[in-house]
Amino acid sequence: MADSIVILTGAGISADSGVATFRGPDGLWEGHRVEDVATPEAFARDPVLVHAFYDARRFRLAEVKPNAAHHALARLDAEWPGDVLIVTQNVDDLHERAGARRLLHMHGELLKGWCLACDGRFAWDGPMGSRAVCPSCRAVGQVRPDIVWFGEMPYDMERIDEALQRADLFASIGTSGAVYPAAGFVQTARYCGARTIEMNLEPSQGSIFFHESRMGRASELVPAWVDQLLASRG
Ligand code: APR
Repeated sequence: MADSIVILTGAGISADSGVATFRGPDGLWEGHRVEDVATPEAFARDPVLVHAFYDARRFRLAEVKPNAAHHALARLDAEWPGDVLIVTQNVDDLHERAGARRLLHMHGELLKGWCLACDGRFAWDGPMGSRAVCPSCRAVGQVRPDIVWFGEMPYDMERIDEALQRADLFASIGTSGAVYPAAGFVQTARYCGARTIEMNLEPSQGSIFFHESRMGRASELVPAWVDQLLASRG
């Protein structure tokens, strides 16, 4: 039976595609802290600002492409004989554009909307703004980005927890380890017996919980790691 692999990705994997990270030197959006635009309270206080933030990021998706790290993970997903689960904190669609299939967006997706009037979730392209019409119930101004904000429950936690408990190998790629519950996945996986590896530009906040740390750019480290894994399976 082949090993079961869980991979957590964060903003650092998309950095080499030109998507800005949250924390770090270019981690601010026009002077706003991410906490000021990514909370339900911020949305209630200033929906125009919050929509402008997400509209700009959704617009940016059309200008970026998956990089070698996304492609390598899609190859691992396609070729690995055991279980693979890619859990991304990213709200971009670069993993799926590279061809990844066993993928969960635990913090939601830029290309989806959520209607607060009818609770419907649907694909969304282009600007949303604060006067958007829900495609299911036609309510006006009730559509928000289907993004998990601070203080909200990430998606698919039961499935993720179950995969972490069964994992033989846990890899964390391009995430600062600043935001829970994702930052705690390494401890769950390790406690349940997985080998743990991080690939990041710098040590993450939970670096001590990893058996192995590889420092550098995801677009270089991840393809080499995937080659190594697939070669180990002959
Ligand atoms: N290759 C690898 N790692 C990189 C690269 C790169 N080219 N560029 C930057 N990094 C690293 C940074 O050093 C940093 O440790 O990626 C990490 C990105 O950290 P964050 O910006 O904090 O992003 P992330 O960990 O995904 O944030 C988690 O916070 O605001 C919320 O919901 C949002 O999903 C997000 C969550």
